[in-house]
Amino acid sequence: MNSILENNNICHQVEQVAEVAGYLWQKGWAERNGGNITINITEYVDDNIKNLHPISDIKPIGTTLPYLKGAYFYCKGTNRRMRDLARKPMDNGSVIRILDDCANYVIIADKPVLPTSELPSHLSVHNYLLSIGSSYRASLHTHPIELVAMTHNPKFLQKDIATHILWSMIPETKAFCPRGLGIVPYMLPSSVELANATIKTIADNYDVVMWEKHGVFAVDTDIMSAFDQVDVLNKSAQIYIAAKNMGFEPEGMSIQQMRELSDAFGLPK
Ligand code: 13P
Ligand code: ZN
Repeated sequence: MNSILENNNICHQVEQVAEVAGYLWQKGWAERNGGNITINITEYVDDNIKNLHPISDIKPIGTTLPYLKGAYFYCKGTNRRMRDLARKPMDNGSVIRILDDCANYVIIADKPVLPTSELPSHLSVHNYLLSIGSSYRASLHTHPIELVAMTHNPKFLQKDIATHILWSMIPETKAFCPRGLGIVPYMLPSSVELANATIKTIADNYDVVMWEKHGVFAVDTDIMSAFDQVDVLNKSAQIYIAAKNMGFEPEGMSIQQMRELSDAFGLPK
């Protein structure tokens, strides 16, 4: 096997990651190595892949994640650029196998590219998703400019204040990000504390979590859907800021209009 992409399903998953990586760069959300993506590809792994020998040392995750025993992930490489990953996903990311102790991993393909520094958050969230029987397999961390800008005002960090403002800017935002924006206070990037706070907020029923003054962390069935949730939220943040730049506080859709929307599309209240 020359490349793990000889497996058609995995090839498709990695192509989707590369497409999204290109969007992140085009949007200006992926300066230098900013942001990371991981995809749980375990369901597509065949015997050829199971028999692949490690191409790295055994590396600690930093935490123990029982639901990830023997699982496989495609991960963006640490310090790698999204704009490079968009063209060459297997030079700027790699596939890892979680060992049976659930606390360590090895890289198995294609090259020994060290996974993202945010691996503790990504893998902790995948572990949580499997523990609740979720069908979500993708997680995305990115630095969307306008959403991050909003976190520099403490008023937007109170529970669901930003969610309701963003939902009220344009009907699509609640329709396509129906769980809103959870908030995690500032914590050191790549720390296990940040990973634990992220799971807690996702468990509080959010698909998109804001890491204060840093970026968002989003989960969904696949990477395109995770990207879409962040995209609609940031579009609303842009509309909010555009109105403020025109010198007025945007009115937002009324409570009545929001209720009508939720009733019409079966969205949470
Ligand atoms: P990595 O290059 O390690 O993925 O880190 C980027 C980042 O955004 C950290 O929060
Ligand atoms: Zn980041």
